[in-house]
Amino acid sequence: MPQTGYVDIARARFLVSAAGRAALAEAPDEWNELPLHTLAGRLRLHLPAVEAAAVGEQIALQQRAGPALWRPRLLLTAEGLQMATHPAVARRRAKRLAELSLPVADLTAGLGCDLWACIEAGMPALGVERDPATALLAASNTEGCVVRGDATRAPVDPQRSALIIDPSRRTDSGRRFDPAAFSPPWGVVIEMARAAAAAVVKGPPGISHAAIPLDCEVEFVQFGRGMREAALWFGAEIRPGLKRAVLLPGGDSITSAETESTDETSAPQQFIFDPESCVTRAGLVRHLAHQLGATLMDPKIAYLTAPAPTASPLAACFEVLDALPFAVGRLKTRLRERGWRPDEVRRRGFPVEPDELRRLLGRLDGEPVTLLCTTICDRRMVFIARQWRPGEEL
Ligand SMILES: C[S@@+](CC[C@H](N)C(=O)[O-])C[C@H]1O[C@@H](n2cnc3c(N)ncnc32)[C@H](O)[C@@H]1O
Repeated sequence: MPQTGYVDIARARFLVSAAGRAALAEAPDEWNELPLHTLAGRLRLHLPAVEAAAVGEQIALQQRAGPALWRPRLLLTAEGLQMATHPAVARRRAKRLAELSLPVADLTAGLGCDLWACIEAGMPALGVERDPATALLAASNTEGCVVRGDATRAPVDPQRSALIIDPSRRTDSGRRFDPAAFSPPWGVVIEMARAAAAAVVKGPPGISHAAIPLDCEVEFVQFGRGMREAALWFGAEIRPGLKRAVLLPGGDSITSAETESTDETSAPQQFIFDPESCVTRAGLVRHLAHQLGATLMDPKIAYLTAPAPTASPLAACFEVLDALPFAVGRLKTRLRERGWRPDEVRRRGFPVEPDELRRLLGRLDGEPVTLLCTTICDRRMVFIARQWRPGEEL
């Protein structure tokens, strides 16, 4: 039966061989829908067991990857797929790198997603990958642009290159959270980046601000609702110390160079804004407040308030219908009286999980509303609100 998550060097060699490519190309599309054991059985009718397992694994992984693939029929590993940069994030990075007019060296190429985006953007680019099987598959995925090797001894001149370094955060036993335990280790990666003409280092989106050096520019990148990465830029064309929040696929952004609101907090007004995660992670809530003509309600809470709505992709805007100190019984009564059904529960600085609150409230019918649960001046509050979208009548 095909295993997912494991590609040894013999399997990788088969997959990149003419026989392996032919076996994959000949697998009919309807096999994508088959359960693994049925698929394994079909493949074993035509191929020896090891080869059938290799092809079966690829079909399963490609099916799992779905739209995360940057082009069809890539050769994958389960770990490589989990670690691969989202194609939209990779393309944005490649666009910025292309403006530097330097050859690109991706020193931790993985399956080649970041690298392929650079090749696609027309840059001369080389990838280095330490794991032999991953390097073979990546070379196939990037038309031969990946070599096996160690990032710290890569065949590139850093002073004439733009480096991409996306250190591995996974081991067989799971994910590593301490940057010193990444591969290569964070300290080594930062020194390599500093020595290059230009470099971008990909870190986890939840990285501690203490691990971000002062001499880089940092971008907190979100795609849809999910945070993707903290990208640290070094060298050419950067503004050291700058922080940027980026929301994809639209590409909207805000930076620490923009004006910041210096207003004190204010009492809740008719509209409340809930900033996107990239803004809060980048510490740019007061910068966004200035753009929106809004103020904080509590210095420790990222919800903003204003007397009028403003459209921004960087924050959801809500019209407040009602507000009350938090107490489950009272909230339930109020919702029932007004014929409101909590469709969405958001929270900031509030101890009750949204699912738990839904459970406590039980079944309610009526017009859908959003509950914004928070703590203002040490008081737990619930705002019953309706999302405002540009063009909607108030
Ligand atoms: C997070 S993945 C890179 C994913 C890649 N950016 C992409 O989008 O497909 C990190 C890769 O670095 C490789 N790696 C770890 N340490 C390395 C080292 N010292 N030299 C070269 N590659 C290394 C791992 O094998 C892994 O494939």
